[in-house]
Amino acid sequence: MNIVVLGLQWGDEGKGKAIDYLAGNFDVIVRYQGGHNAGHTVYHGDRKVILHLLPSGIFSPSTVSVIASSVVINPIHLVSEINGILALGVGLDKLVISELAPLILPFHQQLDIVFEESRYLKIGTTKRGIGPAYEDLAGRRAVFMRDLVDENDFYHQVKPLSEYYNKIIQACGGAPVLIESYLDDYLAAGRFLKPYVRNTIYLLNRLHEERKSFLFEGAQGALLDISLGTYPFVTSSHPTVGGVLIGTGLSHKAIGKVIGISKAYATRVGEGPFPTELKDATGDRLREKGDEYGSTTGRPRRVGWLDMVALKYALMVNGVDSIFLTKLDVLDDLDEIRVAVAYELDGAQTEIFESHHNRLQKVRPVYRAFPGWKKATSGIKRENDLPKETRDYLRFIEESTRVPIEYISIGSGRDQTIRRNSE
Ligand code: IMP
Repeated sequence: MNIVVLGLQWGDEGKGKAIDYLAGNFDVIVRYQGGHNAGHTVYHGDRKVILHLLPSGIFSPSTVSVIASSVVINPIHLVSEINGILALGVGLDKLVISELAPLILPFHQQLDIVFEESRYLKIGTTKRGIGPAYEDLAGRRAVFMRDLVDENDFYHQVKPLSEYYNKIIQACGGAPVLIESYLDDYLAAGRFLKPYVRNTIYLLNRLHEERKSFLFEGAQGALLDISLGTYPFVTSSHPTVGGVLIGTGLSHKAIGKVIGISKAYATRVGEGPFPTELKDATGDRLREKGDEYGSTTGRPRRVGWLDMVALKYALMVNGVDSIFLTKLDVLDDLDEIRVAVAYELDGAQTEIFESHHNRLQKVRPVYRAFPGWKKATSGIKRENDLPKETRDYLRFIEESTRVPIEYISIGSGRDQTIRRNSE
């Protein structure tokens, strides 16, 4: 069955670990949105590798790894990521990159910085140029991977865009990015990438007709979706399930099952509402134990309790079939664990997730407390060996979401995963 693996929170849910765990069973793994703002941590043997653009199936020699057409690509970054993987002795002959992937150009990164500085509501972007590159796609000005590999077209497409944006960058007090300063590097990257570049829409549909199995790898998380997330504190793509169809050119018939990844608590990087945020010693403790520092930017993540209102919303808009719950072991030492079961807004209780920021900023979480289990769980192999308090916590999540928890992750290792009988 084809599965979509996507984040149910604000990213960093542990999708890399989940996908790495599940990947061995699939013929094709597809990244369908986002760019190198993502950071998916996987292990190649004992070696920790953070993938930003390459799909997490890259280490499996028989898996076709596809970067599909709604992924925005910084070609210089992609070349260096590919070289890093080749240096590990891993072959990449099954990597395919969409010719319709929009490019991130150097001025996009500069625009990301100057736009952020001039905003009333700062987003705290990754400063990778992701938003401005997607803006060009919506503005019908995007330059695509296929323009880069056709060297003549590339210069003619980029030149007017570059001049246009340099005026804006200078007006905002930034330094212009002259095309001469990057043209040769981009063209060289295009020559390097050319053998991997194809029409992935037809390729993916052919593989689907041949009944190959697919894993669709989401980046970021549902609450960062440009249309369904905590706008404007979102990324500029669709990490939700709809992004799979737009991002790949496959139809809904290609989606069999949706697995949603959620931490046993919550984190967020960058600005924006976070009703269950902990700004106290418990938050610091979770941040340290959970190593909650951005895998792309190194920024400390904001940390908080699990928020059932937000989780239920993410499960609803994605039609999630089962949950892969990560980092449960990070809660091991706590005396008490809290979960937001509702919000208080304007004197009334609500379970509605008001995704736009101005109402969500005002809600106050209504908590339910659970006793901590105060035992190490990371070596446990079977569900029944988990402490009773842990199992009660899991049962509560399942009963209130009515979505089964199919996998429990209790450490970064592949073997630190408990699969439950959820079917
Ligand atoms: P952008 O995607 O760089 O435009 O950043 C927009 C928002 O999404 C910021 O709050 C980022 O911190 C957040 N964000 C983007 N990518 C990720 C990710 O992979 N994990 C977590 N947060 C992310």
